[in-house]
Amino acid sequence: MHFRSIILSLSLLSASLACVPAPTPGNGPGNGTTTYPYADPGSDERSDPATLGYFSNHLSLNVNNLTRSIEFYSQVFGFRRMFTYHITEHFSVTYMGHAQGGRNGTGYQSAEELLRFKQNQAGMLEMVHMDVEGKKDIPGSDERASTFSHLGIIVPDPEATVKRLEKYGVTIYKKPFEPMPSDGPLANPFTLGDATNLSPEAFAEFIDGMTKLNTLNIFAADPDGNLLEILPFDEPPIFG
Ligand SMILES: *[C@@H]1O[C@H](CO)[C@@H](O)[C@H](O)[C@H]1NC(C)=O
Ligand SMILES: *[C@@H]1O[C@H](CO)[C@@H](O)[C@H](O)[C@H]1NC(C)=O
Ligand SMILES: *[C@@H]1O[C@H](CO)[C@@H](O)[C@H](O)[C@H]1NC(C)=O
Repeated sequence: MHFRSIILSLSLLSASLACVPAPTPGNGPGNGTTTYPYADPGSDERSDPATLGYFSNHLSLNVNNLTRSIEFYSQVFGFRRMFTYHITEHFSVTYMGHAQGGRNGTGYQSAEELLRFKQNQAGMLEMVHMDVEGKKDIPGSDERASTFSHLGIIVPDPEATVKRLEKYGVTIYKKPFEPMPSDGPLANPFTLGDATNLSPEAFAEFIDGMTKLNTLNIFAADPDGNLLEILPFDEPPIFG
């Protein structure tokens, strides 16, 4: 079982920064005038061999209504329910995942097969559900005031995905090529509460940068209001 300490999957959190261009010489800190955005490519060398085989396996969400969340992720995004483990009458954990071959559009794996390879699969979702009578909401979730930013999902065709989200009545905050909304739930983008402490100029720069970074991306909500970032498989260079 995996609780709050494992709720964050760092690879998912950094998904929106995954594709950044090579640096422009003379454009960066210590070289006179710094202009933004600029990229700072990673220079990490090989990891500690003792961590060979480590990888990010799943992201865990606390869900209000397990049925609703399973329906949402399976119908809208094609996740398969691998199992629900009923730990007590009121407490369960559920795993969902995509068939590995799904990235190519060719693969098929039954839930049983997915489960067999559970410890060798990336990108699974875990849903932690406590079914407490009278419970109205997950404490704190209405403000989304946690360290969870968003779940990133790759799709081959964002325009087709927009139609699909509309068909299922999914709340969409932003479609491809639309600006980042300046009101509503994305007014505090990615729940970066500190952003509201920026000066008006710095906040405008921040919104502009986020808009450019997310030009092609869709932002939507899952049934509990968790932010979904939906990215195209083929991401052209954003900053030229
Ligand atoms: C700063 O300038 C030096 C010398 O031209 C260059 O080697 C270096 O890559 C530049 N640094 C950045 C961050 O652009
Ligand atoms: C949970 O979700 C299901 C499916 O959307 C719905 O039928 C059911 O009424 C919901 N349960 C509660 C307690 O809201
Ligand atoms: C699956 O994707 C990989 C990587 O993009 C590609 O090399 C391969 O040809 C694809 N296979 C099929 C069957 O499409």
